[in-house]
Amino acid sequence: MMQKADIRKLSPEDTNLLQACTELEKICIPGEAWSFESFRSEAEKPSGFVLAALDDSGNVMGFLTASCILDTAELTNIAVAPECRKQGVAGMLLKNLLSRIGRAELFLEVRESNLPARKFYQKYQFQEIGIRKRFYQNPEENAVLMKWESE
Ligand SMILES: CC(C)(COP(=O)(O)OP(=O)(O)OC[C@H]1O[C@@H](n2cnc3c(N)ncnc32)[C@H](O)[C@@H]1OP(=O)(O)O)[C@@H](O)C(=O)NCCC(=O)NCCS
Repeated sequence: MMQKADIRKLSPEDTNLLQACTELEKICIPGEAWSFESFRSEAEKPSGFVLAALDDSGNVMGFLTASCILDTAELTNIAVAPECRKQGVAGMLLKNLLSRIGRAELFLEVRESNLPARKFYQKYQFQEIGIRKRFYQNPEENAVLMKWESE
């Protein structure tokens, strides 16, 4: 079933929501999680995006972080709470970002073994354009470099 979500671009003043994103990332991407300060500073940058998907009660179901400078954007993270997955939440976050960045190209890296994420990106027309050898630590792993561009 598709989930209903309110997608909100967070500002540095959204302390509780930024904190909720920080906690969610610890669960979803252990070992590579950003600090609260990293989330806050991304929300503060004119080029930065922290988008949160909120349920009816205002709880964070998922988030993404990205930056966009001129016409080149990078998706630095996307995560959805385990109990909210496979309901279109990440798709809503990504579509919201794409509508905000306009005609930019969007790049990202993903662990080679992260098949759910790779399938997700493929569903949204990202192309695999290269491999960065041993890009990740703990465990060491290659990154797949992916790119999305508007038509
Ligand atoms: C990757 C992730 C963000 C997807 O979130 P989501 O809200 O479940 O994704 P959506 O429901 O919007 O997307 C659905 C599509 O993604 C793909 N997908 C999502 N989970 C999948 C899984 N477990 N296996 C295979 N494909 C999967 C499918 O293509 C699916 O389309 P379908 O429903 O038509 O089959 C989520 O699994 C997650 O938080 N993973 C942990 C964090 C992470 O690895 N982030 C990426 C870092 S690069």
